[in-house]
Amino acid sequence: MSDEGNDVPDTITITDDRTGKTVTVPIEGGVFPSSALRQLDPSLFMYDPAYLSTAACRSDITYLDGEQGILRHRGYPIEQLAEHSTYLEVAYLLLYGELPTESQLSTWNYEVTHHTFIHENMRKRFVDGFHYDAHPMGMFVSSLAALGTFYPESKNLGDHEGKHKQILRLLAKSPTLAAMCYRFSVGLPFFLPDNALSYPANFLTMMWKIGEYEVHPVLERAMDVLFILHADHEQNCGTTTMRVVGSSHADPYTSAAAAASALYGPMHGGANEQVVRMLGEIGSLDQVDAFVADVKEGKGRLMGFGHRVYKNYDPRARIIKQTADEVFQVTGKNPLLDIALKLEETALKDAYFVGRKLYPNVDFYSGLIYQAMGFPVDMFTVLFAIPRMSGWLAHWQELLDDKDQKISRPRQWYTGVDERDYVKLGDR
Ligand code: ACO
Repeated sequence: MSDEGNDVPDTITITDDRTGKTVTVPIEGGVFPSSALRQLDPSLFMYDPAYLSTAACRSDITYLDGEQGILRHRGYPIEQLAEHSTYLEVAYLLLYGELPTESQLSTWNYEVTHHTFIHENMRKRFVDGFHYDAHPMGMFVSSLAALGTFYPESKNLGDHEGKHKQILRLLAKSPTLAAMCYRFSVGLPFFLPDNALSYPANFLTMMWKIGEYEVHPVLERAMDVLFILHADHEQNCGTTTMRVVGSSHADPYTSAAAAASALYGPMHGGANEQVVRMLGEIGSLDQVDAFVADVKEGKGRLMGFGHRVYKNYDPRARIIKQTADEVFQVTGKNPLLDIALKLEETALKDAYFVGRKLYPNVDFYSGLIYQAMGFPVDMFTVLFAIPRMSGWLAHWQELLDDKDQKISRPRQWYTGVDERDYVKLGDR
C-alpha cells in the first residue's frame, strides 16, 4: 500500500483496449517494469524519444530530485561534500559506495597519484600529430581512446584487479592528458606530473608551470570544489553514453572516449563555453534586456539556464556562485560577472523563464571562474570531463555488476515507406 492507513495499492493496471487484456504490475520507487507491456503484447513498444519517461537502469550512486533541487552522492548531500571533502575522496565514494577510512584514503590517494604519468609515445606519436589549432576537447576525446591501446589487457572485463587498475589509470591520467592537450595547443613544452602535489594542485601545475610557479591555496581548493561538483550527475547524456557503449563490453578507455564525446556537445558539457561566449556577445549591462527579449522570441537560448531534470535552482550553481566570490578575491573579478548577475536577476523575474521553470544550471557560473583562473574558453569542457571520469567509471562498474543489464538496444517506431520494388537507374 502506498501510505500507512491508505488502501490505495502501489500497482498500476494497464488495459489493451484492442484485446481487453489487462496487466497489473507493482510501482516501486515511482517506477513500474516495462515487462507489463510485453505481457500484454510482446510486439508493443513505448514511444519515448530522449528517454523522458524511461529509467534504463537501477542505480545506487546518485540521488537527484529536480523539483526540490536536491543532489546526493551515496546519500551524502552535495553541499556537505563540497564543504568537507576532496575530489579524490568523492571519487572513491562514487566508485565504492562508502567514504574511505583514513588508511583506505591514503592508499587511494597514493595509487591515483602514482598513475599520473603517460607513455611517452602518447605525446610523441599521437598528440604531436594534431593540427596546431586543434580544439583541446577534440584532442582529449581522441586521446582517451588512444590511451586504451597502451593497455590491451583493459579488454578483459572479468579481471577484477585489472579493472581497478584501469579505473586508477583513467582517473590519474585524465588531468595529465588535459594539461598536455592545452600545452600543445599553445606551443608550450609538456610539464611532467609531480607526485608530491595534490590532485588539483598537480593539474594546475601541469597547466601553468613555466619557470617558477606555486599554486595559490584558494585556487587549489576552488579547483577541487569544482571537480567535486562535476563528479557525477546520474543518467545524463554522457553517463548514459558510457553505459550504452560499456554494455557492449568495450574497454573502459573506449567507453570513456564515447562519454566524453557526448559531453562535448553545446547542449551538455559544452554549455559552459557557450555561456562565456554569450556573455561576451551581450557585452554590457544595457544590452541584457534586449538579449532576454530575443531569447523569448526564439532567437537562441539563454545558455547555462534550464535543465532536463532540475526544475528548481541547481544546487551546484549555488555552491559555484560562492566559490566564484572566493576565486575573484584572488584573481580579481571577471568583468562578465555583472552581466551574468543581471541576466540571472532579469530571467528569474520573467514569466517566460519562471513559467518554464528555467533556473541557472552548473554551467552558468563555472565558466566565469575558469576564465578568471586563466583557462581559455576551449578548455572549459575538458575541465568538466576530468572529474566526470569518476562518475562515468562508477556507472560503468555498476553496469557490469548488474544482472538485469544486457547490451543496450532500444526499439524504434518505423515510419518509413512500405515495401516497394527496386527501380533501375535509367528508369528513375
Ligand atoms: N533558454 C530559453 N528557453 C529555454 C531554455 C533556455 N536555456 N531551455 C529551455 N527553454 C525553453 C524551450 O524553448 C521550451 O519552450 P517551449 O515549451 O515554449 O517550447 C521549454 O523551455 C522546454 O525546453 P526543452 O528544450 O524541451 O527542455 P529540455 O529538457 O529538452 O532541455 C536543456 C534541457 C537542453 C538543458 C535546455 O534547457 C537548454 O538547451 N539549456 C541551455 C543549454 C545548457 O545550459 N545546457 C547545460 C545543461 S546542464 C549540463 O548538461 C551539464
